[in-house]
Amino acid sequence: MQLLIALHLLFFITQTLAAVFRQDAFAVARKGSAIRLPCLQEGTHEYMYWYRQFAGGGLAVLYLSRYEGMDADNESQDPRFSAVRPNRQNFPLNITGLQLTDTAVYYCVDLLQVQQSPLDLVLHPGSPMKVTCSVQGSSNPNTFWYRWTPTEGIHCVFYSVGTGQVEPAKVDEFSASRPNNSHFVLESAGVGTGLAVWYCAGSTHGNKSKAGRCTINSPL
Ligand SMILES: *[C@@H]1O[C@H](CO)[C@@H](O)[C@H](O)[C@H]1NC(C)=O
Ligand SMILES: *[C@@H]1O[C@H](CO)[C@@H](O)[C@H](O)[C@H]1NC(C)=O
Ligand SMILES: *[C@@H]1O[C@H](CO)[C@@H](O)[C@H](O)[C@H]1NC(C)=O
Ligand SMILES: *[C@@H]1O[C@H](CO)[C@@H](O)[C@H](O)[C@H]1NC(C)=O
Repeated sequence: MQLLIALHLLFFITQTLAAVFRQDAFAVARKGSAIRLPCLQEGTHEYMYWYRQFAGGGLAVLYLSRYEGMDADNESQDPRFSAVRPNRQNFPLNITGLQLTDTAVYYCVDLLQVQQSPLDLVLHPGSPMKVTCSVQGSSNPNTFWYRWTPTEGIHCVFYSVGTGQVEPAKVDEFSASRPNNSHFVLESAGVGTGLAVWYCAGSTHGNKSKAGRCTINSPL
């Protein structure tokens, strides 16, 4: 019997941006044997995940590792599965005693946690607005505010490569600030009447002069 295990690319964009994936490979192994699925990130994200998806099923978390050097949180409830985080970049998954029922797509993901607060705001035109975005999982992520409007679609409006640095200073009635490395704040002294949806995003990239900009207009 042979089992097919696939590693695929995943790009997360739930509450916002940010996961990249590494390997894109198939692994085939004999029933009863063991397999080691490598996972290597090029960035420096603190959070790494292993997900499993059975044919026709949803994604389920198998393991989460929050930091390098820490063993993973274990959701698998299966002693045949194990994962360790020997360093920031690597998060291999081992499966022993392979069964046919292990046949699935296994995704490895490194991820920034992005949260907006508040999630929803209902305001009258002219009211002040303040939304704080928190980006966890990297010591100094690049942060972005994207805006969607019915007429223009989604565009990157503000970006920041670190504390106190924001470009541009002001767009329409909005401005952004970066009080510290993990937070990016969007503000307006009085919002207009137009409909807009704002998205906060985070990314990590070694070369800030290259990637810490509004170069990607649509995160999708
Ligand atoms: C994961 O949890 C299962 C069930 O509690 C346990 O048998 C297994 O040893 C755990 N694996 C690791 C790597 O901690
Ligand atoms: C995974 O398997 C490899 C090779 O069989 C072994 O060297 C390594 O210690 C295993 N890691 C875990 C976490 O079990
Ligand atoms: C960063 O700034 C935000 C917003 O001003 C604040 O809520 C948060 O506590 C600050 N975090 C740190 C680590 O300073
Ligand atoms: C970063 O990117 C900029 C712009 O592309 C380039 O000029 C610079 O040499 C790069 N720096 C490093 C360290 O790669």
